[in-house]
Amino acid sequence: MISKLTSLPVVPRSEDEDLLHRYKGVPYIRTFPMEALECMETFEVRSDDLFLITYPKAGTTWTQEIISMVMSGANEEELIKTHLFFRFPFLEMNWASHYSQCDQVPSVYKFLHKVPSPRTIKTHLTMDHLPHQLFTKKPKVIYVARNPKDVAVSFFHMHHHFNILPYYSDFSRFLSDCMKGEEKCLISFLQISVHCGSWYEHTLSWWQKRNEPNVLFLKYEDMKQDLRKAVKQIANFLDCKMSEEAVELTVRHCSFESMKQNRSANPDYLEFFAGDSEGEKTIEPNASFIRKGTVGDWKNYFTVSQNEAFDADYKTKMEGTELTFDFQMN
Ligand code: A3P
Repeated sequence: MISKLTSLPVVPRSEDEDLLHRYKGVPYIRTFPMEALECMETFEVRSDDLFLITYPKAGTTWTQEIISMVMSGANEEELIKTHLFFRFPFLEMNWASHYSQCDQVPSVYKFLHKVPSPRTIKTHLTMDHLPHQLFTKKPKVIYVARNPKDVAVSFFHMHHHFNILPYYSDFSRFLSDCMKGEEKCLISFLQISVHCGSWYEHTLSWWQKRNEPNVLFLKYEDMKQDLRKAVKQIANFLDCKMSEEAVELTVRHCSFESMKQNRSANPDYLEFFAGDSEGEKTIEPNASFIRKGTVGDWKNYFTVSQNEAFDADYKTKMEGTELTFDFQMN
């Protein structure tokens, strides 16, 4: 059952298959059931929680592992005993209904209430659907944003390979999917027809809160540019003292290659941890969750005209926001 979450060979799905449902207008995968989404709004927040909030494919898993290292004092030995999915629960995933046959994956509700403080919680929910107490108790929030072209490519691969997401046979179909029921053919993931809705709304809603004292707004591209700096920023924000040695260890531990091989951090190996593995399997590079980890992979996928259309739309939507992204590494 749990292998539904992890890398799989392409499972044939029809492009018309409706694998998303809408909660208050925003599409979510059905693995986030309506009841779970409704419960989230009244979820009891603790003021010493740490929320990691991202749009999908922004580098969530990477940042989860960095935070785990920082908060544990770079205690690798301890971390590798438990998979990241259990160390750093996914708020809106209703484990119980989908993975009820696996005792090691308890319902997030039961589970999170029992987790001792300080809890670390991951979520992709849009701002309107987050627990209300997040805005009254104001726990620390780390938001990670990534340039939308690379998000599109990373998201496409996830759609292609993960059977919980709608199927797109090729990148162009994913990118240019006409918004259902709308006349204009725009770029789907930036608009309304993908899991978690609009990248713009998600990212800009937290960009507007970037100066609030409980919020740290990070960018994937900056983390790629200087991981050491990002580790220190996160440690400072969390008031965690780290020796230079611990910082170095964290940088090494969270490098792309190291995380790819780390069974306790790479979602490809979740089933292995859940005792559901039938041994080793070969994972096609593009199907691997920790896939490529670069800035600028979009250039291998966008056509010139798609890029122009994307840029024109991006310019209009980002105008006046002062939020900029590196779309390629220098
Ligand atoms: P790519 O598909 O472009 O390779 P999320 O965890 O939010 O779903 O994000 C997944 C993306 O983060 C994937 O991007 C993945 O490869 C990348 N990623 C994961 N670990 C990383 C690391 N240690 N360094 C850089 N990128 C990483």
